[in-house]
Amino acid sequence: MPLHLKNLLTASELAQARTLLLAADAPWTDGRRSAGDQAVQVKHNQQLAQDSDSAATLRALVLGALQRDALLFSAALPRKIFNPLFNRYGGDANHYGAHVDGAVLHSRATGEWVRTDLSCTVFLSHPDEYDGGELLVHDHCGPQRVKLPAGDAVLYPGTRVHEVLPVTRGVRIASFLWIESMVRSDEQRRLLFDMDMALLALRQRESESAEATRLTGVYHNLLRMWANT
Ligand code: NI
Repeated sequence: MPLHLKNLLTASELAQARTLLLAADAPWTDGRRSAGDQAVQVKHNQQLAQDSDSAATLRALVLGALQRDALLFSAALPRKIFNPLFNRYGGDANHYGAHVDGAVLHSRATGEWVRTDLSCTVFLSHPDEYDGGELLVHDHCGPQRVKLPAGDAVLYPGTRVHEVLPVTRGVRIASFLWIESMVRSDEQRRLLFDMDMALLALRQRESESAEATRLTGVYHNLLRMWANT
């Protein structure tokens, strides 16, 4: 199931991102320039030029938000984050058909390869500013439709077929990125996340107990067994 990260961006970060991306001179380019062989057939959107000043400012803004989010850290256990990119759907370039992302991607910004264990979309348009534009993530339970408030983000396994439905009114802007996790397996990562969340709830309900300490030890011993740093 996709994980909803509420208020990933603060109100002022969101306002700054929107000002840069909605500026009349924002350097949008054809999204197909950065798509692989399969995706290029179905990709119809725009992407912000990576070498622009606004892209550099926006990358740092989104990276800072990702790095301070405790829920994202627990769920993703990030080892590397592919530099955040920015896209725009509207007018004739208004959808991205069903596709899979490449398993390993080369980041122009950092010069490193990143394995795409997890995908993340940060919504930057308010839901009432556009019709359509849902992110559809296909998983074992069928397609999951995602359309979130501006400033919120969704995290889902990079292994999934996904698509963005046509935007039929207005404009949808977003940031998207991939995360290479210290724990490669979705299943192991999910177990660790469940355990971490249960321990958090346990500690909120009652003060530290000997059992909570032992279970925290089990969490860290599993992480030590499965993590690559
Ligand atoms: Ni994709």
